[in-house]
Amino acid sequence: MMDKSKFNHYLVMFLTLEYFVNLVCSMNNVPRPNIIIMLADDLGYGDLGCFGNTSLRTPNIDKMANEGVKLTHHLAAASVCSPSRAALLTGRYPIRSGMYPDGIVRVNLFIANRGGLPPSEVTFAKILKEAGYKTALIGKWHLGMSRDHYNDFVFHPLNHGFDYYYGHILTNVKDFSGEGDRVLLSLLPNLYKGIALAYIIGIITFYLLFKKGLINKTLLVILTVLVTFLLSYFILLFENLTTLNSVLMRNFDVVEQPIQLESLMSRYVSEGLEYLQQRKNDGSPFLLFLSWDRVHTAFKIPKEFRGKSKHGRYGDAVEELDWGTGQIMSAVKSLELDKNTLVYFTSDNGGGKAQGAVDGGIRVPAIVWSPKLLPSNITQDEPTSQMDILPTLSYLTNSDVPKDRIIDGKNIFSLLKGDEVISPHQYFFHYCGSSLHAIRFRPRTGKKVWKLVFYEPDYLPGKQECTFICSCSKAHQLNPPELFELTSNPGETKPLNISSNKDYEIIVESMLKAKQEHEKSAVPAESQVTFYKVMWWPHLQPCCNFPYCSCKDTKFT
Ligand SMILES: *[C@@H]1O[C@H](CO)[C@@H](O)[C@H](O)[C@H]1NC(C)=O
Ligand SMILES: *[C@@H]1O[C@H](CO)[C@@H](O)[C@H](O)[C@H]1NC(C)=O
Ligand SMILES: *[C@@H]1O[C@H](CO)[C@@H](O)[C@H](O)[C@H]1NC(C)=O
Repeated sequence: MMDKSKFNHYLVMFLTLEYFVNLVCSMNNVPRPNIIIMLADDLGYGDLGCFGNTSLRTPNIDKMANEGVKLTHHLAAASVCSPSRAALLTGRYPIRSGMYPDGIVRVNLFIANRGGLPPSEVTFAKILKEAGYKTALIGKWHLGMSRDHYNDFVFHPLNHGFDYYYGHILTNVKDFSGEGDRVLLSLLPNLYKGIALAYIIGIITFYLLFKKGLINKTLLVILTVLVTFLLSYFILLFENLTTLNSVLMRNFDVVEQPIQLESLMSRYVSEGLEYLQQRKNDGSPFLLFLSWDRVHTAFKIPKEFRGKSKHGRYGDAVEELDWGTGQIMSAVKSLELDKNTLVYFTSDNGGGKAQGAVDGGIRVPAIVWSPKLLPSNITQDEPTSQMDILPTLSYLTNSDVPKDRIIDGKNIFSLLKGDEVISPHQYFFHYCGSSLHAIRFRPRTGKKVWKLVFYEPDYLPGKQECTFICSCSKAHQLNPPELFELTSNPGETKPLNISSNKDYEIIVESMLKAKQEHEKSAVPAESQVTFYKVMWWPHLQPCCNFPYCSCKDTKFT
């Protein structure tokens, strides 16, 4: 007869085995969730009812928060769109992918430029596509298009894991409103006078040099042609920004140029609804990334929303954004996709756009919704990052995160479910371009979150704004750095006197040590946002109905 302890031993082994068999079976039985990501453009933390706004009406987004998990301490990796979007898609700080600016220009300014998210980067779209998902991007991209040759599409969404694309390949800007606003001229009001003066001085100088016999006639002609060419380049560029940059694509085709902005949001919504219906019909798991053009300028508001909000055209845009989000959420429910779908709503940067590491620029509203997988009506105050989406989606779809590179995001699914109560991140590193402007620290105990700030933006005296766009290179170094406690002082208004308290000193010491560690691994990749890359390269310019560069999307007209 088997003795009792041996029997117990076998019993335990058997039960353990059975437990794992059950676990594996139950995991296989759960179909992998569909994923919908909705990304607003420039939507601030305080613009939504569920984040405390009392005068803007956002009932649909508020409802999503009531039915899901609201993240009150969610962070974008940058305070401007291209780097922030690159980090969201790759789970990595933008310095690792090269999507960080190298000078004053902080984002791609032209479709016909030579920079973008390098094809070697792995986006969550690539991961999900490999896992058998259908993947679509509808809306703004702003991470490059072609690199070396006309339509080589090296940086295009269809080469970054999406198998359907409809949207604005660059970004919305003021100029597209057709109301006379000029982004470049508001930055440099005397630009044209300067260019004209330089041209005239140039021509006169060449002529005088020729008269004095210092240059011959051939050189005079060459120089004159050259500066005239430069003059035409700039005028062509500045006078045609809308034609050159307001380009809507379906997959690799230009379908509209310039974009009819007024109907853009509702077209994105119809494309989204159509996609959901198709996936409902074919039953394949899907990733639908809706990258809304709202609430970035220019504001061309359709009449259903025009003048309806309490905050002018900006408010109208927020309310239209809410409407679109509601349309998608209703379809998810009416198509019964809610049983197995996870929706993530956020914004690429906060209201304090471009202000380096200031929380107003990087702390963004976020909601995660999944009636099946997550609790409802929960607020999660732990700090989390947009870079967490890639590892979290990898986990949910039984995929591996790339192992050959550093991924800065972390799987936050347990935190969202409430199984974990503390953020998996101890430290967050906040960059402006390639320079580290601040560190955030979430100790493993207590509730407090600390921020150590090394640089502040080049604010105008007494104000919290810069002349135009805050520049990373002109930021002021704080010596010594300033320490804030964000739970009690989210507005970063009360720097603490570090030397007055032993605990503060210990906290700062640990943050400086983490900085050193981080910097060892954070070697900036070659920048994709250099002057050479972001300038306008005519040979890369997309144009429908050449040479008119003018067409309308026939699907919607
Ligand atoms: C609501 O949003 C508007 C527009 O951004 C803003 O002006 C207003 O201050 C916000 N209200 C609150 C209570 O945050
Ligand atoms: C959500 O929670 C709040 C308080 O935590 C409560 O007042 C509200 O009624 C709840 N809403 C729903 C839809 O359960
Ligand atoms: C900071 O605290 C130290 C030690 O208590 C004190 O000597 C110093 O004056 C304080 N500095 C300021 C700016 O209050």
